[in-house]
Amino acid sequence: MAKVIGIIGSPRRGGNTEIIMQEALKVCQSEGLETELVHLAELNITPCQECLFCKKAKECKLNDDFPPLFEKLVKAQGIILAAPVFFGSAPAQMKAFIDRAGYLGIARDRPFERKVGGALVVARRAGQNFTLAQLLYFFLYHGMVVPGSTYWNVAFGRDPGEVWRDEEGLRTVRNFARNLSWLIKMLY
Ligand SMILES: Cc1cc2nc3c(=O)[nH]c(=O)nc-3n(C[C@H](O)[C@H](O)[C@H](O)COP(=O)(O)O)c2cc1C
Repeated sequence: MAKVIGIIGSPRRGGNTEIIMQEALKVCQSEGLETELVHLAELNITPCQECLFCKKAKECKLNDDFPPLFEKLVKAQGIILAAPVFFGSAPAQMKAFIDRAGYLGIARDRPFERKVGGALVVARRAGQNFTLAQLLYFFLYHGMVVPGSTYWNVAFGRDPGEVWRDEEGLRTVRNFARNLSWLIKMLY
């Protein structure tokens, strides 16, 4: 069965980012796909050290929680990244993941090529477009296929649960997940 991995970059459990990711994964499940949720905040993923070890060794020399996560992603057919906006961009946890996965992906001859992916972003007020672009750069760099929705995948809320009030944001996320599932089933 094709699998979608949802990666949450918020440090807050049960927050708005988790809510919209769960909504997306529920749709994927109802479309017959297997799903897995990963909270970066529960993992120890240190920032890229720019040692370039991976270029030669084809693996990262940092012995933390990143290498097993990377192998999981290589096996998946779909990847969704979700993040809240922190000072106009993605939180440090998500940035560390993108840098590590992005660079090892190059060293490993682009294992994400033609997988399906997309990004979800939550903001209180501003920075959502920049952050969405920041996350999308990962997919577009790696030759992944990104389906659209009925709007851009952003939702609004500050305190945990506030995002439930953003009916259009939730609908956009669900429609994205429907398109992502459709595409995965077409390709795999
Ligand atoms: C350190 C920090 C920085 C933030 N910066 C922004 C920001 O630049 N723009 C914005 O709209 N919201 C900002 N927020 C609000 C969060 O994006 C918002 O509360 C979001 O719903 C949090 O998602 P979560 O519940 O999944 O953690 C910030 C919150 C924190 C803690």
